[in-house]
Amino acid sequence: MSNIVEKIQKLKNRLNVTIVAHFYQKDEVFQLADITGDSLELAKKTIDNNSEFIVFCGVAFMGESVKVLNPNKRVVMPKTACCSMAKMIDGKYFDKSVEILKQSGITIENILPVTYINSSAEVKAKVGEMGGLVCTSSNAEKIISNSLKSGKKILFVPDRCLGQNVANKMGLKSEVINLNQGGNSKYLEADILCYDGFCSVHQLFTPEDIDFFREKYPDILVATHPECDPAVVAKSDFVGSTSQIIKFVKNLPLEQKIVIGTEFNLVNRLREKNTFVLSSTKPECSTMNETTLEDLYNTLKSIEDGNPFYEITLDMDIQKNAKLALERMIEAKF
Ligand code: 13P
Ligand code: SF4
Repeated sequence: MSNIVEKIQKLKNRLNVTIVAHFYQKDEVFQLADITGDSLELAKKTIDNNSEFIVFCGVAFMGESVKVLNPNKRVVMPKTACCSMAKMIDGKYFDKSVEILKQSGITIENILPVTYINSSAEVKAKVGEMGGLVCTSSNAEKIISNSLKSGKKILFVPDRCLGQNVANKMGLKSEVINLNQGGNSKYLEADILCYDGFCSVHQLFTPEDIDFFREKYPDILVATHPECDPAVVAKSDFVGSTSQIIKFVKNLPLEQKIVIGTEFNLVNRLREKNTFVLSSTKPECSTMNETTLEDLYNTLKSIEDGNPFYEITLDMDIQKNAKLALERMIEAKF
């Protein structure tokens, strides 16, 4: 065991902390976590946890979600890493999207906002205030189909790909909102109106990457994350959240070749043989990868010294309204 790992474990044993890590974390950090999972699992699993501190190894929206759901818990992050997609929308852009829909002839009473969990607490609060809710990549289809029962149009933020992929799967009509133009009557025709955000990592995968692997290995299976472009999803054999991809791959015979379109840290630890990363470039979530063992050690040390680094604090109104949006998802039990 390396010196730093030993030091982290000793420190951890002295403190009332739980280390949480998303699947995209570096292996050495991931291996030290008490709780791991996809975004939905991480939000849920920390609710019943009774440690005083959560040390969250991931990106800011994930740590914030834990804080929103557990206001009395102290949540610290070894890095203030942010998700590039979550950064594409803030409260003002959310308001502007609503305004454009109103200019298009859709009344506010007829809009139900749904935000992908990859958004800031500020955006979740806006959604919560309007009676909307959160979804993750593993429950987006169920949340959207349930939300459509209200008879309202769905304003889906911030990931246009996830919104379009769900719409395509359900045979619904989607449109991407153009923030540079005013109202447009075409928005009246759509069931799901998507904000124009995307994931910089999942955008790297192309239909040509899939063609390349299918030509090379005719029997190969293709699994992708729903943050990929709809053209990539259309050519995939399986589409799912990080946890769903892991489960799918575990149930395959070892001789079955598989190529996977998601972040490389997860793909690399899946299985030793017959597993490929779907990209001609390295699909690395650079911010997820910022957290190192040294950061983890320093964060734990700062807790022991009584002055934790990067503790998440939230404005009370944001906390309250973001909690409404997250709890509506959890109560929906999808
Ligand atoms: P999951 O909910 O599938 O873990 O996705 C989170 C994410 O950020 C994928 O890019
Ligand atoms: Fe955000 Fe994309 Fe990184 Fe996921 S992979 S955390 S969506 S930037």
